[in-house]
Amino acid sequence: MPTFPNIRPRRLRLNERVRRLVRENHVTVDDLIYPVFVTYGQGVRREVSSMPGIYNLSIDMLLEEIKKVEELGIPGVIVFGVPEEKDEVGSGAYHPEGIVQQAVRAIKKEYPQLLVITDVCLCEYTSHGHCGLIKNQTVDNDATLELLAATALSHAQAGADMVAPSDMMDGRVAAIRAKLDEAGFTDIPIMAYSAKYASSYYGPFREAAGSTPQFGDRKTYQMDYANGDEAIRETALDIKEGADIVMVKPALAYMDVIRRIKEQFGYPVAAYNVSGEYAMVKAAAKLGWINEKQLVLETMTGFKRAGADIIITYHALEVARWLREV
Ligand code: PBG
Ligand code: ZN
Repeated sequence: MPTFPNIRPRRLRLNERVRRLVRENHVTVDDLIYPVFVTYGQGVRREVSSMPGIYNLSIDMLLEEIKKVEELGIPGVIVFGVPEEKDEVGSGAYHPEGIVQQAVRAIKKEYPQLLVITDVCLCEYTSHGHCGLIKNQTVDNDATLELLAATALSHAQAGADMVAPSDMMDGRVAAIRAKLDEAGFTDIPIMAYSAKYASSYYGPFREAAGSTPQFGDRKTYQMDYANGDEAIRETALDIKEGADIVMVKPALAYMDVIRRIKEQFGYPVAAYNVSGEYAMVKAAAKLGWINEKQLVLETMTGFKRAGADIIITYHALEVARWLREV
């Protein structure tokens, strides 16, 4: 191996032209998915206090927001529902006239080419705020599977292009795949939240979606953040059950997991840059403590370098704009 002074790594950093030439990873608008929160009513555009720039939108206002997504060339959105009513069994999640089902129909009608992905879970719809049915003070895995499958099917019937189960029940990908196939939706991909950790980084999302558990926590179904090997096992199961895209969530504190899953499986990997990650950036930017644009682009590039193919981020609109500037 030649060494200094023959080797001078700085030669390839000399100016932006050279740096561009040897740059290994790029973020493009093609990588982005924008999460949206749809709610009931008309003319509603309610900002989430811990997520500046992110809103609960009624369907009419959502369509305006989606116009921006389309104009910027972002491939797709992931839709979360904020329903008017909740109950013990999360009926709103799988009702054909549920808020997400209505929103999907409205979006696909106006923007048929836009990729509409739906989050499949019960927590926004259950009065107790858990991601499944409660039995003996805990979440009943097997009884929940049927409801998750029904939710995914109702989304597909409304016109969703892809479903994304985020509940972390065992066997949910298989249950959803079977249900979709049985109904003829064999071409609808599943993007599984495979390595989803029980995380404090979801705090602002739970404010946005009104989905804070009313008792206990999600640690009996979401993963322990101390574990890496377990993420490999979870992802292997989801792939075996029929997942087309696998996800790591949150993203920033889990870059190692993104890398390991990419290397182990060679599947398309999505990184979910979650609400708390967004909130921290917005808070620091508001205080003038960081250069938001530079910092966010650095973070997005980091996800790509770690091995992510897809980045789900609340920054998607601004990232798409910034990419046009540079
Ligand atoms: C629902 C769901 C959550 C997120 C995505 N889907 C919240 C949770 O599991 O508590 C988090 C997204 C974010 O924080 O941005 N299961
Ligand atoms: Zn949930």
